[in-house]
Amino acid sequence: MSDLDELTGLFDSELAKASNAPQLEELRIRYLGRKGLVTALFRDLGNLSSEEKPIRGAELNRLKSYVQDALAQRLNAFESAKSSIPTLDLSLPGRRPVIGRRHPLAQVEDRVKSIFRSMGFVVETGPEIETTHYNFTALNTPEWHPARDEADTFYLDSEHLLRTETSPVQIRVLERGKLPVRMIAPGRVFRKDKPDPSHFPIFHQVEGLYVDRGVTFADLKGTLLAFYRSLFGEDTQIRFRPHHFPFTEPSAEVDVTCFLCHGQGCRVCKNNGWLEMGGSGMVDPNVLEGVGIDSEIWTGFAFGLGIERIAMLWYGVDDIRYFYENDLRFLEQF
Ligand code: DAH
Repeated sequence: MSDLDELTGLFDSELAKASNAPQLEELRIRYLGRKGLVTALFRDLGNLSSEEKPIRGAELNRLKSYVQDALAQRLNAFESAKSSIPTLDLSLPGRRPVIGRRHPLAQVEDRVKSIFRSMGFVVETGPEIETTHYNFTALNTPEWHPARDEADTFYLDSEHLLRTETSPVQIRVLERGKLPVRMIAPGRVFRKDKPDPSHFPIFHQVEGLYVDRGVTFADLKGTLLAFYRSLFGEDTQIRFRPHHFPFTEPSAEVDVTCFLCHGQGCRVCKNNGWLEMGGSGMVDPNVLEGVGIDSEIWTGFAFGLGIERIAMLWYGVDDIRYFYENDLRFLEQF
């Protein structure tokens, strides 16, 4: 067998193994490239006698054309195989597109914001890292008050902490000195609570504040009634229970009739008929005077409500921790 037959055999076996266009290109370079196996044989022609040269030359040319044709044919075969794969197979089962959506807490917050905006409230924000001044002192919270306890509050140092409530935004907005003020302030708050079905160290509140000439408790009642009717349904009733907060006087906790049983008693309200929704009251004159506002002229009401509380009741979620686990099986339900 001549060396050319051997080389042809080698090429044939390598060609048989090539399964795509890049591999064909590798083969082309290996045989016909500048340092290729066939190319090298052409270079050797110079060493032959003038009788041998044309014979060998003709053989090499045949080999070269053979390699070129074989490569071109295979490349063609690959191309036509590719184009005969159908681009649309109607028999395949469909793939459900994954559609993202707002987090359930964001959905509730959006709803709360849109209701209050429709009543003329503007949306404000404040920092999550607060000073003890804004979080406690300016809110009329005495030095000895248990809310300041290190066991309940994430302190960064003796003067800085992660805000425990959205109420400090009241102070930051009032400090601007532009009255009247009618605002809500949604945001994250932080408390050193051990996680359990009803506690998580991070949660969300919406603060409300309205300060103007002649604001009364009746305005507070009317505003919250309109809000909760819009949120839970037009037949919702509300009631106020006396309470204490350092920054309001008088203070009250707000209950609404259960949106599921309308006060009859059911699993949502634990057979109570009422749902506790949050705190409220008339802004304490000490708070107003503390930011240089004359409490003889200006009065106001404030309230604070929990986003998780609304979301858990409304969606029937019985463990607050679900909101923070980012489990798609949970999140996809909203
Ligand atoms: N900051 C209170 C809390 O976190 C909630 C609250 C109660 C806010 C009464 C208010 C209010 O604005 O008037 O428990």
